Amino acid sequence: MRVFVTWRIPEIGIQLLRQHFDVTVYTGDEPLNGTALVNHLKGMAGVLAIFHNRFTADVIEQLTTVRVIANMAVGYDNIDVATATRKGICVTNTPGVLTEATADLTWALLLAVSRRIVEGHQIMATDNFPGWDPLYLLGAEIYGKTIGIVGMGRIGSAVARRASAWNMPILYTSRSPKPTIEQKLGARRVSLEELVHNADFISIHTPLTPETHHLFNTNIFRQMKPTAYLINTARGPIVDENALVTALRNHWIAGAALDVFENEPHPHPALKNFPNVVMTPHIGSATVETRNRMAELAAQNLIACLQGKQPPAIVNPEVLLNDNR
Ligand code: DGY
Repeated sequence: MRVFVTWRIPEIGIQLLRQHFDVTVYTGDEPLNGTALVNHLKGMAGVLAIFHNRFTADVIEQLTTVRVIANMAVGYDNIDVATATRKGICVTNTPGVLTEATADLTWALLLAVSRRIVEGHQIMATDNFPGWDPLYLLGAEIYGKTIGIVGMGRIGSAVARRASAWNMPILYTSRSPKPTIEQKLGARRVSLEELVHNADFISIHTPLTPETHHLFNTNIFRQMKPTAYLINTARGPIVDENALVTALRNHWIAGAALDVFENEPHPHPALKNFPNVVMTPHIGSATVETRNRMAELAAQNLIACLQGKQPPAIVNPEVLLNDNR
């Protein structure tokens, strides 16, 4: 069987696939999408994909041989799962293995934006430090402040565990209550409105769905404390970037730290002009260990699906139940 890998990935994933299949790895410079993606997948039984490949309904309808799309990401908003399911194509993802790395980056961003780390670095790198001054480069205290976690899944929970080290009251939103987190960390499930009214730091950890698209909009920014910070390491389009720019311009919020953007790879052009905005290039899961584990898990998922076995992480298990291969 032939399988296709849509981008360079850690070698461990490729090696694993090569033990079972004839593997082609794409080496182009532009992410494959649309007709180019369909053409490269002709004759392929499976595809190991990344977040940049958009498996729209139109693309999936044109796949005649592909039986599994193994996404090397926990998020799968780049795949029209309903169409894949209808066509009997397995969709898999990589949950769990990137939880701690993404939670760490969330905290790195929270600390960076509130303690003005990037501004400080630029001052030092340009030799512009005027000397210690009691009023110089003051940021916001973190210890004991309230954190609001939007989406208390694996990553949200890992962020919450870290928050207890800063003695922070934790508010959260989630589709279902999380009794263990509530008991262990004293977290309180509230409405989004209560969360945005009361949190000093708001961190987004919900998947991108039609319901969460532009969840953070003008209306929500108006309700945040003017001293509050927004951190987003989930998906860019959850935040309306135009509304965020307006909120920053009008000082409705104190700052933002973003690892993901509405139109990746490009942030809203105005964002780079705010000293109280810290941006990183979608590196939430970017540690050597985590990216190796993601590649390995994506490959394991792909192999299991093509062997008719239960993969470690499948998004549409109903495909396996109806599988007559
Ligand atoms: C994920 O795993 O969802 C990361 O954001 C990479 O896309």
